[in-house]
Amino acid sequence: MDIREAGRLLLLANRRRSRDGHQYTVPSPSTYPYQWLWDSCFHAIVLAKLDPEAAKKELFSLFSKQLPDGMLPHMIFWKPRITRPYHVWWGKSGVSSITQPPMMAYAAWEIYEATKDEAFLKEIFPKLLASYIYLIEQRDPHDHHLISIINPDESGEDNSPRFDIAMRVKSNISFLSHMYKRHQLVESNRTCGFDPLVCMEERFWVKDVPFNAILVKNLERLAQIARVLGEKEAQEFAITNRDVIKFTMREFLMAEGVFWSAIGLEHGHLKVSTWAHFVPLFAGLYTPEEAKELVRTHFSNPDTFRSEFGIRTVSKQEASYRSKGFWRGPIWFAPHWFIYKGLKDYGFTEEAEWLRDVSVTLIEKNGFREYFDPETGKAYGAHNFTWGTLVLDMLDS
Ligand code: GLC
Repeated sequence: MDIREAGRLLLLANRRRSRDGHQYTVPSPSTYPYQWLWDSCFHAIVLAKLDPEAAKKELFSLFSKQLPDGMLPHMIFWKPRITRPYHVWWGKSGVSSITQPPMMAYAAWEIYEATKDEAFLKEIFPKLLASYIYLIEQRDPHDHHLISIINPDESGEDNSPRFDIAMRVKSNISFLSHMYKRHQLVESNRTCGFDPLVCMEERFWVKDVPFNAILVKNLERLAQIARVLGEKEAQEFAITNRDVIKFTMREFLMAEGVFWSAIGLEHGHLKVSTWAHFVPLFAGLYTPEEAKELVRTHFSNPDTFRSEFGIRTVSKQEASYRSKGFWRGPIWFAPHWFIYKGLKDYGFTEEAEWLRDVSVTLIEKNGFREYFDPETGKAYGAHNFTWGTLVLDMLDS
């Protein structure tokens, strides 16, 4: 199998056009037939090298539904007829009421790196900036310098056990019961107009490690973009917030050598061991010594995260670990990509290459599937799922 060609063809096959001419890529035609926020950023990262014009269109399509307060909805329902019970995420017109990890600046920078197209940066910049201002101003109402999510789906890891305490559910909860709980959460947040402050204080308030680490990395990219455009004030905004979030994450979210997501006003740690421990590598949050220890005790440890087929999203030691449980243990490609990037940055070349190679093998054996049982390597979930195309970026970086 020529994996580059297969990836290119998959992105092409999943490409769609809206009635008003926006072009985007669906993560999976049968299971996920709409546009998703972080998925579109992943698509743009891969397309930046393959077809930069399509990468630009993907981002512009995403930003075309930016809300007046700057928030980017995590889903855009381009098709008029909803085929799945996604209406539970409505609340705004034609889009969802929640957001997702803010990979936009990273994706825009990849496009710039591939094209050196300053006009593109200039056009997207005010929208990008507004989306980060929203997160910093609206999702941190008490100036804790940690951004909060108001629904597990905002992490992109829908039923991750990291959120069990905040969701008030037991660790053996089924996939459907969990989904029902999340629907209830959206329903109750609808009653307060999705006001982040009320949603957080009364219902669900998590300072999530991956979300904040991804934000740190993206603020760095936003600063780079601002520098190219000579936008001094914006550059200052991005650097200051990057530094202050970085500092606060180390100060309040670190214990036992790793980062833990936290709940509520007091930053109580949510002590469930997930791949969230690795995401801070992507944002340079560990010292080189700490990173080495993390790789030794977790990345390379078959009793916690490492399996023959890849990295578990939840440690095998957790009571909530389920090898086929969606985000409660299986291997996913986006986590592999984030970890790969982090390992490379810290100089763990051998470990990164192993991760890339097992990712390629999973695709060669199963095609582009959604997630995999770490104990058997068996594929589950959506077919023709685009996240596997991130291996193209892994092969080129
Ligand atoms: C699943 C994933 C989420 C992703 C979406 C579309 O819900 O958990 O992260 O954005 O599918 O691919």
